[in-house]
Amino acid sequence: MDLVKKIHRLKKEKNAVILAHYYQVPEIQDIADYVGDSLGLSQKAAETKADIIVFAGVHFMAETAKILSPKKTVVLPDLNAGCSLADSCPPEAFKAFTEAHPNHVVITYVNCSAEIKALSDIVCTSSNALKIVESIPKETPIIFAPDKNLGAYIIKETGRDMLLWDGSCVVHEAFSMDKLIELHKKYPDYKIIAHPESEEHILNTATYIGSTAGMINYVKQHQNQKFIVATEAGILHKMKEAMPYTELIPAPAKEDNTCACSECHFMKMNTLQKLYDCLLNESPQIEVDETIIERALLPIERMLELSK
Ligand code: 13P
Ligand code: SF4
Repeated sequence: MDLVKKIHRLKKEKNAVILAHYYQVPEIQDIADYVGDSLGLSQKAAETKADIIVFAGVHFMAETAKILSPKKTVVLPDLNAGCSLADSCPPEAFKAFTEAHPNHVVITYVNCSAEIKALSDIVCTSSNALKIVESIPKETPIIFAPDKNLGAYIIKETGRDMLLWDGSCVVHEAFSMDKLIELHKKYPDYKIIAHPESEEHILNTATYIGSTAGMINYVKQHQNQKFIVATEAGILHKMKEAMPYTELIPAPAKEDNTCACSECHFMKMNTLQKLYDCLLNESPQIEVDETIIERALLPIERMLELSK
C-alpha cells in the first residue's frame, strides 16, 4: 500500500487530524485535513474533536496546539523543525526586557516559544496583528516581540509607538532588493505582494501586505493580475491549485541563499514518511510544562476571542 493510503487508514483508526501550514511540501498539504496560516491552524487546534493532532508545521505552531488542547496527543513529524524567529527571543533575556519596562502591555507574535507566550499579555499572528495592537488603549505603552519587521510595519500602519524586540525571520530577510527590482523591470505588469515579516524596503514595493492566508485570498480576488510573491515559496502550491492560470513568480533571494527563492528549511524538514512514522509511533510528541500551559493559554485565548 502506498504511503498516502497508509496515512489515511491510520488517521481513521487513531481518530487523528492532520493540520498543515502553507509552507509545507505539496504532498503534505495535499494529505492534510486543513491547510492554513498560524491563526487558522490555532483555531482548528482549539476546536478539533480528534484524539491526535499531527501538526505539519514548525515547533512553535505544534506547541500552540498543545497549549490549546493539552489533553490531546500532539505530534510533529520532525522535532527539529524550529523557527529562526522563535529562536531569536530567549526567555531569560526577554523576561529581563519586560521587567525593565513594567508598565508596558506585552504583545507577542505567535512565532515564539511557549515560555515567551507565558510572559505575554496577548498573542497575535500576522493576520490579526493590527487589530490586536489597536485593541490596546492608546495611552498604554506596548512591547512587541519577537519580530522587528512586523513590529515596524505595525508602527507604520497604526502610528503606535512600540518597543520592539530585535528578532527576525531568516527566510523573509533573504529577499534581494536588487534582484527584486531587476525582476520587476523585466515584468513590470506583475504586482508585488509580501508577508509583513519582510524588511521595510521590500514591503515598500508591495501592492498588498498580509498573512499567508491573506496573500492567497488577495490573489484569488485578483485573478486577472500577475504576481511576484514575497514569502516562503511553499505558498505557491495552494495559489496554483486555486488559480492555475494566474502567473506567479516567487520573489528572488540573495546570492548566498541556499535556494534561489526563499525556502524555510525548518518547514521543509517534515516529509510524508516522517508524517507517517510520527502518526504510527505517536512520537515525537510535543510536551509543555503544566505551569507554562496555564500562563500561556490566556494570552492565546485573548487573541482567539478578538479574532472571532
Ligand atoms: P502566517 O501566520 O502568515 O502563515 O505566517 C507564519 C510564518 O511562519 C511566516 O513565516
Ligand atoms: Fe520561522 Fe521564518 Fe520559517 Fe516562518 S519562515 S517558520 S518565521 S523561520
